[in-house]
Amino acid sequence: MLIDGHGRTVNYLRVSVTERCNFRCQYCMPEKPFSWVPKENLLSFEELFLFIKVAIDEGVTKIRITGGEPLLREDLDSFVRMIHDYKPDIDLALTTNAYLLPQTAQKLKDAGLKRLNISLDSLKPEVAKQIAQKDVLDQVLKGIDKALEVGLGVKINMVPLKGINDDEILDILDYCKARNIKVRFIEYMENRHANVSLRGMHGKEILAKVKEGHTIRALGREGASPSFNYALEDGTEFGLIDPHKHDFCESCNRIRLTAEGFLIPCLYFDEAMSIADAVKKGDIEGASQVLAQVLKDKPKENRWSETPNEGEDISARAFYETGG
Ligand code: GTP
Ligand code: 5AD
Ligand code: SF4
Repeated sequence: MLIDGHGRTVNYLRVSVTERCNFRCQYCMPEKPFSWVPKENLLSFEELFLFIKVAIDEGVTKIRITGGEPLLREDLDSFVRMIHDYKPDIDLALTTNAYLLPQTAQKLKDAGLKRLNISLDSLKPEVAKQIAQKDVLDQVLKGIDKALEVGLGVKINMVPLKGINDDEILDILDYCKARNIKVRFIEYMENRHANVSLRGMHGKEILAKVKEGHTIRALGREGASPSFNYALEDGTEFGLIDPHKHDFCESCNRIRLTAEGFLIPCLYFDEAMSIADAVKKGDIEGASQVLAQVLKDKPKENRWSETPNEGEDISARAFYETGG
């Protein structure tokens, strides 16, 4: 079992396979970064897998593949298959913008992927284009349909932004309800890479919008998830991810691995240690030692609540490196 310095059990590993993305979402990567990590610095699937095996052997039971956009990494299904074949009962999921799903969903399902979390910020082509800075909606909706058709579990993530998509909360809820899928509304998390003019919606404001169309009932947090769940009058469930409260940090069960091999103890913080040297040498013991150190140093909570509106001293971590 993996226990961190605050006594929390860590059983969830998020693995970013690339920082690159085919979208330029305003809250994440409004401009192409000055330079990408050179391809030769990326860990191969085999190298990532060596660390994943260490993590699984020591207690990880849930793995989520993230990016950037993970489907940009060629033959991702072969990586999914490696993990699945090593431990078929692992909760194996992927977070994606869905753009490439029409052609990849079936292969991913066949390789052993169980679930997808998909970003869907608008159902209006022009607004989706404004947020992603690319005309994406049609292809994203086709991707969601394909994922459902092949039998993958699907959840939707929406980041409501003032004056941009804040009038679509009920529409996104309806869209998900009609397909029997769950939506989680995520409070915008300020970070140095995002468009500075963005204004996120507070969790309370998001709930107020939902209440314009529904009566809601609080259900509570689902295990160690950052999402607090609610039910509509007919039982339809949705979630709210509210990092400014950071009350989910006390049960935080996750660490993140970047495509270059940095092991990150908390989404907010800059501290990270590399497992790259160890996995390149096939040094299982070395990888395990880095893992133990990162767990020991994992901070107690994030700090979004301290600086919700300031441009300075906000997280320097890029969501496209950490995979959110
Ligand atoms: P499930 O397995 O479906 O519960 O997935 P998940 O919620 O762990 O994954 P997803 O990639 O959909 O994450 C949703 C979003 O929640 C992330 O992109 C972040 O914005 C936010 N989030 C997830 N984990 C953390 C965390 O540790 N800290 C903070 N502040 N936000 C987080
Ligand atoms: N604030 C909140 N959510 C974000 N995501 C990316 N950047 C941010 C941000 N600054 C979300 C995306 C995606 C998930 C992986 O992270 O919407 O669904
Ligand atoms: Fe790409 Fe996801 Fe970032 Fe959008 S939020 S730019 S889809 S990595």
